[in-house]
Amino acid sequence: MFHKKTVRDVQLNGKKVLVRVDFNVPLKDGKVADDTRIRAAIPTIEYLLQHGAGLVLTSHLGRPKGKVVPALSLRPVADHLSALLQMEVAFAADCVGEPAHQAKAGLQPGGIVLLENTRFHPEEKKNDPEFARQLAAGCDLFVNDAFGSAHRAHASTVGVAKYLPAVAGLLMEKELKYLGQALENPKHPFVAILGGAKISDKIGVVRNLLTKAEHVLIGGGMANTFLAAQGYDMAASLVEKDALETARALLAEAGGKIHLPQDLVIADAFSADAVRKTVPVGNLPAGWMALDIGPQTVTAFGRLIREAAMVVWNGPMGVFELPPFAAGTFGIAKAVAESDAISIVGGGDSVAAIKQSGLADKITHLSTGGGASLEMLEGKILPGVAVLEDK
Ligand code: 3PG
Repeated sequence: MFHKKTVRDVQLNGKKVLVRVDFNVPLKDGKVADDTRIRAAIPTIEYLLQHGAGLVLTSHLGRPKGKVVPALSLRPVADHLSALLQMEVAFAADCVGEPAHQAKAGLQPGGIVLLENTRFHPEEKKNDPEFARQLAAGCDLFVNDAFGSAHRAHASTVGVAKYLPAVAGLLMEKELKYLGQALENPKHPFVAILGGAKISDKIGVVRNLLTKAEHVLIGGGMANTFLAAQGYDMAASLVEKDALETARALLAEAGGKIHLPQDLVIADAFSADAVRKTVPVGNLPAGWMALDIGPQTVTAFGRLIREAAMVVWNGPMGVFELPPFAAGTFGIAKAVAESDAISIVGGGDSVAAIKQSGLADKITHLSTGGGASLEMLEGKILPGVAVLEDK
């Protein structure tokens, strides 16, 4: 159950509030290419403004490795947010030092300033206490609404909580409620769908979900390693040789709960123009590779998904960015959308697939967290949540 204090539990009037948001959004030609994460933060921003706070928004963007990278400036995000809110959003050209100090000093109740990318400083990822103190300086309260970054123990997600009372934002609360329910109190039958390239990233997730779900459906590159562990020749497919033993152990532990592809869309090269065909597993010619799950698998997985009361999905079923290998992922997106189950979808690719299918409104909860939702599904406590005050 959700037991952290939120913005609803604190006095906000006249306060300067440091709000960590996850504005790590894709940019294209200097503009925001997908504003899902920005829109997701608006309920918290509006709540704080309506209750008389002045907002100092802070975020990272990309991985600039502790240096100023102009292409990873948050300035376009400030402009975008300003257009969405239809109000002025000031921008401070550095998240600490004079620009930040001045912006905070001049901030009025009902005003907003967005600070420049925290990762322009190496101290952010090191969770440097002095850097965290500077980020917190001049503010009265810390609100963490950056669920997507809550698995990172950085200065702006964790360090600042040493200097300010820390509570959850409304997006953080919503994300933790949905994912928390799936983990602590799932409806049954509970079906988990996992995909993506590598099993090494998801071993902990598979293991944890096996203790909670009736069925764990596995597709994407990670299915190759499981199929190879069962003795199938996967030809030129991506197989993680180091993970074969683990895959075998998981299959043994699973007692039939893990469902793997029955057929695969294979290709003679990793390319959209490759020659391709659909084959049952175990029938890959030498030199060919599996790039998607086949239609029989979509049907079989779809049946379990449609019978489920709760579904969690993270990771695509194939190389879905290449259109000839996207049918499996879209087929699963459709099944999840058509199911009456409580459905929770996380991870950039699975969320993108749902949106491209035009089915987003049929999903109970689209998570803004990729890595963060995975770590939660793994049963880990997220450091950016751990630092928030208990109710
Ligand atoms: C994400 O997009 O998953 C978060 O914003 C975290 O970004 P990171 O993986 O670069 O820490």
